[in-house]
Amino acid sequence: MQALTLTRPDDWHLHLRDGPVLTRTVSDTARQFSRAVIMPNLTPPVVTTAMAIDYKARLDAQGTRLTPLMTLYLTDNTSAQEIQRGYDSGIVKAVKLYPAGATTNSAAGVTNIEHIYPAIEMLQELGMPLLVHGEVTHQDVDIFDREKGFIDQQLAPLLDRFPRLKCVFEHITTSEAAQFVAQASERVGATITPQHLLYNRNDLLVGGVKPHLYCLPVLKRNTHQQALQDMVASGNNKFFLGTDSAPHAQGAKESACGCAGCYSSPAAIELYAQAFEAIDALDKLEAFASFNGADFYGLARNTDTITLLRNSWQVPESLTYGADVIIPLGAGQTLNWQLQA
Ligand code: DOR
Ligand code: ZN
Repeated sequence: MQALTLTRPDDWHLHLRDGPVLTRTVSDTARQFSRAVIMPNLTPPVVTTAMAIDYKARLDAQGTRLTPLMTLYLTDNTSAQEIQRGYDSGIVKAVKLYPAGATTNSAAGVTNIEHIYPAIEMLQELGMPLLVHGEVTHQDVDIFDREKGFIDQQLAPLLDRFPRLKCVFEHITTSEAAQFVAQASERVGATITPQHLLYNRNDLLVGGVKPHLYCLPVLKRNTHQQALQDMVASGNNKFFLGTDSAPHAQGAKESACGCAGCYSSPAAIELYAQAFEAIDALDKLEAFASFNGADFYGLARNTDTITLLRNSWQVPESLTYGADVIIPLGAGQTLNWQLQA
């Protein structure tokens, strides 16, 4: 096969940041994706509908054809009324749960899920998705066990309490998460990033720490990578594309305390194609990238297409990022598929 034409995909989990870097981040996403679910972990976080509307205006001002689907950042104080306001705006499409301390800019996140039961009740009533960063944060839980801990201690009880809740388990990294979602109700889905399909913790740690492969949840052992690969190869429609592309300048990554996040937008669909081809599942790419997410969110599938050509090309070693430099995911790596200009 020399060309692969797909319905235009969407990115159901994306960090664009704010300010001058939007020139880069919005256009890198728009080159391939039609819509993207925009994460709210700015400083300060996007906690109100009014803030989401303002942020969307700054994204739209970039003048690309990207359609941003906005989210609110849950805090201990998010009210049911704010959820209703977001829903009524028509602009807020989902709400993000960061356990406080779990990741970048999560300090204002939720300290105890019971605090937000009224907000979650409202989400369930409205059918608006709750997006979860699924990691427990206790100091005594090993970082590689934090996703499994979240399922057992938080997510399973939450879904028992709110059985009609629409919920996306974001950027899953373990066989336990894949199994949990597969056996849950049809209202529970999951996103999978390119890095968790392509790499495991050996890639991160063997032969020297690779800060540009450090993200949260952290890459797991190869058996978990394999479980995610098997799940996407199975074609299960609860699993869909969410890059979690999360840009940080080179200096913030290559640091004594490096930031978590992989900047995958510049080659996202090509990285997924590489991952799917490696497991002989290219025939499952279109549904994963372009159908399953839209169906889950209850939105129309896109009607235009993109074409990937079988062309060896190298991901750039670095790119400009505002006044800084950024190292994209896969920098310097040769990929087999390239988006047709
Ligand atoms: O690696 C990550 N980076 N994981 C997250 O959950 C947040 C993200 C970011 O915003 O940098
Ligand atoms: Zn994220």
